Amino acid sequence: EQEEEEEEEEEKEEDTNNTTDSSSEDDDEEEEGDPVEAADVRSAEEEKAVEAVQDKAPEKMLTKELCNKRKPQPAVFIPVDRLPEIQAARLKLPVLGEEQVIMEAVRENMCVVLCGETGSGKTTQIPQFLYEAGYASGDGIIGITEPRRVAAVSMSQRVAMEMNMSTRVVSYQIRYEGNVTSDTKIKFMTDGVLLKEIQKDFLLQKYRVIIIDEAHERSVYTDILIGLLSRIVPLRRPMKLLIMSATLRVEDFTENKKLFPRPLPVIKVDARQFPVTVHFNRRTPTDDYVGEAFRKICKIHRMLPPGGILVFLTGQAEVHSMCRRLRRAFPFRSNRTGLGDDPKDTEEERKWFKKAKQKKMLSLPRINLDNYSTLPVDEGDEDRQAGIGDEEDGSDLDLELGDDPGDEGLEKCDPMLPLYVLPLYSLLAPEQQGKVFRPPPAGTRLCVVATNVAETSLTIPGIKYVVDCGRVKKRFYDRVTGVSSFRVTWTSQASANQRAGRAGRTEPGHCYRLYSSAVFSDFQEFSEAEITRRPVDDLVLQMKDLNIEKVVNFPFPTPPSMEALVAAEHLLVSLGALEEPPRDMERVRLSCPITPLGRAMAAFPVAPRYAKMLAMGKQQGCLPYVITLVAAMTVREIFEETDRPAASEEENAKMAQRRARLGQMRRLWAGQGASLLLGDLMVMLGAVGACEYAGCTPKFCQENGLRYKAMLEIRQLRGQLTTAVNAVDPEARLYLDAKMAPPTESQVLCLQQIVLAGLGDHLARRVQVEELLDPKWHNGYKTPLLDSPVFIHPNSVLFKTLPDYVVYQEVLETSKMYMRGVSAVQEEWIPQILPRYCHFGPPLEDPPPRFCPDSGRVKCHCKSTFCTWIRQELPIFWT
Ligand code: CDP
Ligand code: MG
Repeated sequence: EQEEEEEEEEEKEEDTNNTTDSSSEDDDEEEEGDPVEAADVRSAEEEKAVEAVQDKAPEKMLTKELCNKRKPQPAVFIPVDRLPEIQAARLKLPVLGEEQVIMEAVRENMCVVLCGETGSGKTTQIPQFLYEAGYASGDGIIGITEPRRVAAVSMSQRVAMEMNMSTRVVSYQIRYEGNVTSDTKIKFMTDGVLLKEIQKDFLLQKYRVIIIDEAHERSVYTDILIGLLSRIVPLRRPMKLLIMSATLRVEDFTENKKLFPRPLPVIKVDARQFPVTVHFNRRTPTDDYVGEAFRKICKIHRMLPPGGILVFLTGQAEVHSMCRRLRRAFPFRSNRTGLGDDPKDTEEERKWFKKAKQKKMLSLPRINLDNYSTLPVDEGDEDRQAGIGDEEDGSDLDLELGDDPGDEGLEKCDPMLPLYVLPLYSLLAPEQQGKVFRPPPAGTRLCVVATNVAETSLTIPGIKYVVDCGRVKKRFYDRVTGVSSFRVTWTSQASANQRAGRAGRTEPGHCYRLYSSAVFSDFQEFSEAEITRRPVDDLVLQMKDLNIEKVVNFPFPTPPSMEALVAAEHLLVSLGALEEPPRDMERVRLSCPITPLGRAMAAFPVAPRYAKMLAMGKQQGCLPYVITLVAAMTVREIFEETDRPAASEEENAKMAQRRARLGQMRRLWAGQGASLLLGDLMVMLGAVGACEYAGCTPKFCQENGLRYKAMLEIRQLRGQLTTAVNAVDPEARLYLDAKMAPPTESQVLCLQQIVLAGLGDHLARRVQVEELLDPKWHNGYKTPLLDSPVFIHPNSVLFKTLPDYVVYQEVLETSKMYMRGVSAVQEEWIPQILPRYCHFGPPLEDPPPRFCPDSGRVKCHCKSTFCTWIRQELPIFWT
């Protein structure tokens, strides 16, 4: 059998007549070669893989590959020299008990799924098992993908430490940073990084094993990677694929015939989990969940026995404000007198000490701070504890900040115990992130304020209490406009349970949910795969960049809707990112190849519409402005709302006054002459410019009707996009200067055209007088997407100008359909910048015939000599 296999292998090579031998040394060196060349010159083997990914009926090929019974390879053992205490800690992890089962399954199967609770040791131990079993001893390495950067960085450091090896050997790579060397054997990376590598080397020759971690999160890139690897791995024998999940919900991968013709073997690791008591809030939840969380932490800290607290909030800004609040309330100072006379004491502390003195609490012997963390936990407290924290019987739910904690609390509480507060979110600097894994200073209680990054990817030691706000920040996409935004919504039951589970890793714990059990039962059971919730134009572009042209046939674990795929292809063709299908096609076939512009766009980490603007932005030194505009449009809602109905006459008058003032500011930012025609986008640009010039203070934002948070986000995004542009085009040598001078007149004209190039499908034409059959069209605009008219909002600086052609960022329906983010367009630009939307023919007669002789439809009123007929795909110019 073995021989047969080898023969087959040889045959294949003869067939394809190539040099792709995964065991040849030279190959590995070639990896580092010119990426452009690598992408252009594909080996026949690679071509086969690219074909396989688009093959409608993979069964034929894959069944053959998968069903070939392979003899297990001889077991090897590469010793690792671990420190004794590390080895002892490892032995306690649940996956250690399953090592043999796991490694046997890996040896005998091409693809294996591993399920195990968070903290069972999947991420840190499986790469070590594989290393020890010799999977990295040849020329292939072990690659592990993580959906989050934090996890990739911290896990690589952890594994290096556990294995007593240098980070040259156990390394990481995230988008703009990494420490991979030629000695690297285990490589942690984000899923996006591996996807980019597939672009350069479709068969991933460098890798012997690929581990897809956190597959349960169903991030779009993870899904696509699994789809790609389901085809790549069979062609790369003896490559191995391991899919790891923190939940048992893996049928989308294992039972999916389109992905893997035969069900994959699933190994379940039983985690040792201590019981976690869940406490629901009794009351209907309020919107001030950050305040509630704060009060809850104060209460836990004052009244409950030692043990770390982990708080789940939704975003970076919330995390920081909570950390500030907590540090103010429980300062972490080593030299405190602890007698209530420390000048650094806060108002709240002074109050507390006053009460304590009255109750003669301070005459109690003082506890030695250094010894505190070693005090045994009083298990007998369990019951009383439940009484204090259990909101279901509403015992002391209303304890407000500064309230008397009560006698019972004071008896148990150590007035000296400081709170050691640490933030944790994905974009936090790695050395800051690392702090949560180290034990807190003696005599303090650890309190980690985290986003859902702490839900499954990272296990923080010593957590006994979890405070869960029940919310999550999610990206939402507008189906009509395709524009995305972040919104805070309820999380799913599955992730709420994951969060609760964080409390029971080392001992029995408690989870405080800041919402009622009724609300919990209304949560959706699982979070849906991200891919079904959003437009897929960016994904389709990424796949086309991989030369996967027939995206419809791609083996998605959960496929996006056909409608979404068609819309994406259509948009990309219009943007010039894909080649146009032949003229006579009824509708766009889903197999257009990518263009050079498309390849450039694929390299920017933003939606294709904006990527096109960035790709065009080099002209006339416009890049800093384009970056700012793209950042402002991505953040959205940068202006404070002034349109909400007022409660009283008085308030109404005040709001009218404010509206007038903000209108004035907008007109100021919009500028004069040419810049006025950039319209609302010029206002955004002016607002960001003015705000940065004033140092981006909350005061400036408040006075000028800007959302401070949005301004901070824009600043951060500008930084990221600047890095991205420099990475894509090193010649740009762009340097982010927060304070920018206003664009010149010619730059404004250039910007208007760049915006038109990106938002071309959001073009609207003012309805002409002769078309005004219906008064509802008065001052209205015709768009390709909507049958009814859309209007320029009274808040827009172009409200009175009413240009003939505009592009808009989105349409929002309130009392009317209003366009937002409106910018004027000059008619003669349309055929030049959006030729794909135009049909070129002989100039119109004067006066133009009212009906198109072919379609019988009303013809556009268009004086330009370039633009005569407008294509049917964009019926914008037809009424
Ligand atoms: O991947 P999985 O959630 O199954 O577990 P893991 O991340 O491999 O973590 C296994 C154990 O290592 C946990 O109990 C953590 O407490 C510990 N760990 C640690 O102490 N420090 C780290 N930086 C990472 C993990
Ligand atoms: Mg993990």
